[in-house]
Amino acid sequence: MRVVQWDETLSVGNAEIDKDHQALFELLDQLRTAVREGQTEKVRLGILSELVRRTQAHFALEESVMTRIAYAEAQAHRAEHGKLMAQVRELQDKVAQGDLSLSLSVFQFLYGWLARHIEVKDKPLGQASRKHFES
Ligand SMILES: [Fe+2]
Repeated sequence: MRVVQWDETLSVGNAEIDKDHQALFELLDQLRTAVREGQTEKVRLGILSELVRRTQAHFALEESVMTRIAYAEAQAHRAEHGKLMAQVRELQDKVAQGDLSLSLSVFQFLYGWLARHIEVKDKPLGQASRKHFES
């Protein structure tokens, strides 16, 4: 059963961005399941690596939308992306080196961050892009 599920309340009003968010939620759900089922660190790390790769590509997409619409909040939004990438890379390294177990708390950190970021940063971006392309 899926626990981490994207739904319409998370829509930012931009189909490309929503599609990416759905894929990220899917990977988060896979990660949570792997942790709950006690999968090996190698399996968990594989999912985390895929999540990091997709997140990086997703941020690049959002940043290209920001450029296209000359988004006023671009700098702060990009800064938050940069901060998260640095944090997850650090987590990834620690897990790879055996200094950290990829536990439920790592999952919770990533999930909490994404849900909050969508609400606070991506929804205003989605709205601005909608306005831009409608006008
Ligand atoms: Fe974002």
